[in-house]
Amino acid sequence: MRLAQASLLICAASAAAAAPLVPVDVIVESFCPCSATWEYMFATEIAPKLGAIVELRRWFDASAQGSQHCCDPSTKGRKTTPLPIIPKNSSLVTCFHTKEECVANRLQRCVQEYYPAWRDWLAWSVCVNGDCAGRSDAAGCPDQNKVGSKKHAAAEEACAAKQGFNWTTVEACWNGDEGVALMQADADHDNSVDEVYGMQGLPVVHVGGSRVSVSKFWDCNSSSKGYQAQLISAICNATTAAPKPAACAQ
Ligand SMILES: *[C@@H]1O[C@H](CO)[C@@H](O)[C@H](O)[C@H]1NC(C)=O
Ligand SMILES: *[C@@H]1O[C@H](CO)[C@@H](O)[C@H](O)[C@H]1NC(C)=O
Ligand SMILES: *[C@@H]1O[C@H](CO)[C@@H](O)[C@H](O)[C@H]1NC(C)=O
Repeated sequence: MRLAQASLLICAASAAAAAPLVPVDVIVESFCPCSATWEYMFATEIAPKLGAIVELRRWFDASAQGSQHCCDPSTKGRKTTPLPIIPKNSSLVTCFHTKEECVANRLQRCVQEYYPAWRDWLAWSVCVNGDCAGRSDAAGCPDQNKVGSKKHAAAEEACAAKQGFNWTTVEACWNGDEGVALMQADADHDNSVDEVYGMQGLPVVHVGGSRVSVSKFWDCNSSSKGYQAQLISAICNATTAAPKPAACAQ
């Protein structure tokens, strides 16, 4: 009897563990304050409660069709109408917040490629963006705009060391063709996303493939409890884990 009960419990536990993770897709930009705040919020408010049932997937904004006029490497430059005449040199590709943002995106994308476990790359991004506790979404994190710049390199390497990342590997990717190819892959993904975004605002968040939109204009409100409750609700609705995490009962 005891044995039977014990094995039932074990079965229940492994069934819960086997539930597929709920994909949470977020499209961000390195220098976008709302994006940096969102990543911080996810690391501090969502991961501790629902980390076991989600898989966070991050894409950098590089949509050629988006209204951000952003840095799809294949466009060879800022996407405006009419297209400016720019020599075929992908280093001239610009992002919404300037060319430096493309560099910062490549860096973060390369970290994500080599350290794909979402908690690892997220911890590194939160570390390099600086402490955004108590700041508004629109103010963002104190160091987000420094990412990828020379003056911030030591901090980035220190954050990498803290995570046990090999900086040599990250640098080779970031400064080479691989970083550009990864950004192109993100551009292709972003172009496949139905919603027109961009000037409508980032981050764009999908849970289990469905758009989560909390505010009418954009999702730049992740530091509010109301936003967090909506995100938690969407994740809890999408999971097949049984039992659901305690946070789902709130
Ligand atoms: C880091 O990566 C480089 C190049 O891939 C390699 O040569 C080096 O041994 C690695 N360092 C450590 C500490 O693993
Ligand atoms: C942010 O969320 C709060 C709480 O849910 C809400 O009252 C507020 O109107 C939202 N702000 C924006 C700009 O959407
Ligand atoms: C989750 O499901 C409940 C019950 O159907 C619903 O009221 C709620 O709006 C859903 N949450 C989201 C974010 O869609």
